[in-house]
Amino acid sequence: MDEIIIKGGRPLKGEVIVGGAKNAALPILAASILTGGTFTFHNVPKLKDIDSIKQLLASMGADVKSNGHTVCIDTANLNHFEAPYEHVRKMRASILVLGPLLSRMKKAKVSMPGGCAIGARPIDLHLNGLSLLGADIKLAHGYVEATAQKLSGNEIYFDIPTVTGTENLMMASAMAKGTTILRNAAREPEITALADVLNQMGADVQGAGSSVITIKGVKKLKPVTVSIIPDRIEAGTLMVAAALTNGDIKIKNCDPNHLRSIIHKLEKTGVDIKILKNTIRVKGNLPINSIDLKTMPYPGFPTDMQAQFMVLMSVANGFSVIDENIFENRFIHVSELCRMGADITISGSHAMIKGVAGLSGAPVMASDLRASASLILAGLVATGTTRVSRVYHLDRGYESLEKKLASLGAAIKRVSS
Ligand code: EPU
Repeated sequence: MDEIIIKGGRPLKGEVIVGGAKNAALPILAASILTGGTFTFHNVPKLKDIDSIKQLLASMGADVKSNGHTVCIDTANLNHFEAPYEHVRKMRASILVLGPLLSRMKKAKVSMPGGCAIGARPIDLHLNGLSLLGADIKLAHGYVEATAQKLSGNEIYFDIPTVTGTENLMMASAMAKGTTILRNAAREPEITALADVLNQMGADVQGAGSSVITIKGVKKLKPVTVSIIPDRIEAGTLMVAAALTNGDIKIKNCDPNHLRSIIHKLEKTGVDIKILKNTIRVKGNLPINSIDLKTMPYPGFPTDMQAQFMVLMSVANGFSVIDENIFENRFIHVSELCRMGADITISGSHAMIKGVAGLSGAPVMASDLRASASLILAGLVATGTTRVSRVYHLDRGYESLEKKLASLGAAIKRVSS
């Protein structure tokens, strides 16, 4: 198993390019199920989660080919409607095939994803929405079995704005009979990216990016060639890396509009940020001011950046409070950060952080994707050596993060143990 070894204390300098967004690529690749033909996707990040969705599509009969960051998927002979447990247990976002399978095959059998390290993560809102479109849903032997001869448009109100739930319902309703209105829909940029792709395929999806999305069912869709939007969480993670190390970096190929809440919070910590079209320049400016933050659905501050900001607050001047409002167990990184000298107390969904003068390198264990990124950030600023193990969590969602950081001057390497 690989480990990442970091010798902390070097300020990051230089330029780095952000890759395609994992959480945009996953639903967009799943959308290829909706109709038969050859799709070409550019700027697809090379990640374990992307491998998982490609393997799942191939297991359904799709012909999947990859060349660098381009993925071609021919779904003409897709003939299987099952997402088995072996796939879904590796990646819970496999649930994204449920909506498109139901639309194309009239039936779908998808293993229930269950919880993961960060929370229980139910899928009741996905299932409730699909049944409102007319699907018959049964839960048996750990699987969701859904059938629908014809899906029909309906009004669907989400109790909570769910990202993959909104995506599943957009895909299921693209060819349903009549109009579907999704209320309290998620507004993340990845939702808008999926809507754009569906519209290029011939769908009629309006309002994506707002909390009301209207989908007028169309009779057919066609394959497309599209490019995946930049990964706002990778960009945000690199921004925090620059701030922490008192560095000066240019992050290229990102979309600053998707990063407003992160920019706003970083500026409050005293960091100097300049936006030049698709490039963000981040210049550290020690000492770091402590700030409070609450994770919220987009356009609020993303839960996927909470762990990284907690590292920044660990070495800030003063006290800060971080409220995690999306997932009930997303503070797993805290005990590892405390082993590196951070002073953090958890009370329910609140973390109280007392800034310390510095962190000290230690062997630490990654527990989930964003927690892994936070430990690497902590290693960049800690004195001495940090060894991060279980980095397969990192590889699910960051492409060669250690190489990108090394290119900016960090003393970081991957070793196989
Ligand atoms: N929820 C329900 N019922 C549902 C669906 C969601 O109660 O049927 C709750 C969840 O338990 C959670 C809240 O609603 O408390 C929001 O969850 P959401 O459904 O929006 O999360 P998701 O779609 O499963 C996506 C991202 C996550 C990201 C969250 C929140 C993908 C593939 N995953 O998950 O990304 O944290 O939205 O923004 O898009 C990551 O990349 O590290 C990651 C975990």
